[in-house]
Amino acid sequence: MEEIRKHKKVDEVKKSKNSKKARKPLKLSAHAPVTSDPQQAVQETMKNVAQQNVVQKPAEEKITQKTPLLYLDHVSKKYPGDYIALDDVTLQITAGEFVAIIGVSGAGKSTLLKMIYAEEAPTEGDVYLNGRPVSEIKKRLLPYYRRNFGTVFQDFKLLPKKTIFENVAFALEVDGASNEQIADEVPKILSIVGLESEMQKYPYQVSGGEEQRASLARALIHRPKVLIADEPTGNLDPASSQQMIELLLQINELGTTIIFATHDKDVVDQVKRRVIVMDQGKVIGDKDNAGYGLSK
Ligand SMILES: Nc1ncnc2c1ncn2[C@@H]1O[C@H](COP(=O)(O)OP(=O)(O)O)[C@@H](O)[C@H]1O
Ligand SMILES: [Mg+2]
Repeated sequence: MEEIRKHKKVDEVKKSKNSKKARKPLKLSAHAPVTSDPQQAVQETMKNVAQQNVVQKPAEEKITQKTPLLYLDHVSKKYPGDYIALDDVTLQITAGEFVAIIGVSGAGKSTLLKMIYAEEAPTEGDVYLNGRPVSEIKKRLLPYYRRNFGTVFQDFKLLPKKTIFENVAFALEVDGASNEQIADEVPKILSIVGLESEMQKYPYQVSGGEEQRASLARALIHRPKVLIADEPTGNLDPASSQQMIELLLQINELGTTIIFATHDKDVVDQVKRRVIVMDQGKVIGDKDNAGYGLSK
């Protein structure tokens, strides 16, 4: 029944894309500002974002609505030389899911994530967030679309001359948040990732696991709907990897949708959530509540 409803909605989405009349005015997100001045818009957006609660559960209607949070419709990505990094991928992700994307190096995991947070555009197909096609978003408005996503990568990318607190605060400062907001928000997020007592340290003074948790805090500071984690355990020892996965699961429990790519099957085996398996740019497996040992 659920499947039927979802497919129906997808058809509706396609129809509305093809019909100019059916097109609704673009509403980027609940945080979208109502001004045309880009600088003022960023500040307004920040204010709106700052007013939300820390990684709060999505509103009830978001959970029950029929439109998938994310829908990839026959997405392909070719790089110059006709190299196919992503080959006709269709999938949907519902709000609140924890999705692991697994596959060997070069399978297309990072490319798939880039299509989702619109770092790059697909060569064919389209990505929909809450039923709205990303291809129809004007280039200058893409930063608002990207605000729906927080990103964590294998290399932590912390600023070495800033403390853990300052690294996280920086993400708010550049958007013009007030000192009060920063003083309020940053410790809250750092305590979620268990770094409240390390926040005055510099990156070189903490462990790799702690650095990665700081970069996770930085990704969460804007309270994104979706957290994208691309090989977040790639540079961590097994104990820190385990801790990172547990933290991601906790953040997911708080309501944030998580899409997490890894080539490490051991990491996914312990998670027992939805697993999408990729190979040579294609999705070759998609299973709920599965470890990577799909063939077991
Ligand atoms: N910017 C690019 N230009 C050319 N080829 C690329 C580019 N990005 C990725 N690729 C190729 O696309 C394929 C998929 O890459 P990627 O998505 O990074 O895989 P994964 O994250 O699973 O390791 C790889 O063979 C890679 O070399
Ligand atoms: Mg990758």
